[in-house]
Amino acid sequence: MISKNGNGKEKAIVELKDIVKSFPVGSDEITILHGISLNIHQGEFVSIVGPSGNGKSTLLNMVTGIDRPSDGKVIVTGRPVHAMSENELAKWRGQQVGIIFQFFQMLPSLSILQNVVLPMEFAKKFGRSERRERAMGLLDMVGLADQANKLPSMVSGGEQQRAAIARALATDPPLLIADEPTGNLDAKTAGQVFDLFMKLIEEQGKTMLMVTHDQELADRIPRKVEIVNGRIAYDSRPQTLATVPATSINGGVIETPSNGISRGIFNGQLVPNSLTV
Ligand SMILES: Nc1ncnc2c1ncn2[C@@H]1O[C@H](COP(=O)(O)OP(=O)(O)OP(=O)(O)O)[C@@H](O)[C@H]1O
Ligand SMILES: [Mg+2]
Repeated sequence: MISKNGNGKEKAIVELKDIVKSFPVGSDEITILHGISLNIHQGEFVSIVGPSGNGKSTLLNMVTGIDRPSDGKVIVTGRPVHAMSENELAKWRGQQVGIIFQFFQMLPSLSILQNVVLPMEFAKKFGRSERRERAMGLLDMVGLADQANKLPSMVSGGEQQRAAIARALATDPPLLIADEPTGNLDAKTAGQVFDLFMKLIEEQGKTMLMVTHDQELADRIPRKVEIVNGRIAYDSRPQTLATVPATSINGGVIETPSNGISRGIFNGQLVPNSLTV
């Protein structure tokens, strides 16, 4: 599900160019991200791993426009996120990005169903009468149809997280961004939530960027990017597709990059030779 531009090259859905992020601390400044460049293509499932406090959430905040880089460019779904106004960002996010947090962040006074309807109302997406039906469909998909009228506090953590996933999908955004979405779940529930993510990527062609501390889950994600001290310390698929000549994309080539992880390109789709890269 990788889209191409007119040159036959692959189009990145997330393009980070030389991102630097510093925060003021007292009269000083500390730099958290030191020039990160990263391209993610449509249909990719990418894990962001690395030690605590090394800049993973800060990086995701650059992609979603929740925060701005001190330097560098953030192009997501073709929009210059680093340069957009708050209003433009809110509109864009509502249409293009589904965000899933570790602590669910459901609105406590609204039912689960209302929580899922809300993003569609904000984005004015789908007809009024359709929104409820669509929300019910999504809740059904995450196994929560029978809990739809409960308040978030009346269901378990795993159920709240599944509701948060339904909410993130409400406007049918192409890009999903998740910051430790399984961090508060037991292993079994985490596995279920993860299977759901896999399904969304494989069956609906979503693109997903997920920060996780769960090594086992990260190992199941096709591409792994490790952030250490605000730099990319490792990327299991470092070569951006834009640098792969179109001839080899169509040719069905197996490549073995310098990191030793081989991958194949068949019918214009990049496939790692195993899902446990
Ligand atoms: N608004 C801010 N002002 C000052 N420092 C900040 C701010 N936001 C983040 N930081 C600092 O940036 C560093 C990276 O934080 P970040 O939340 O990105 O880490 P992380 O890799 O997501 O860690 P974790 O795995 O624990 O969630 C931390 O040292 C943090 O204190
Ligand atoms: Mg974090």
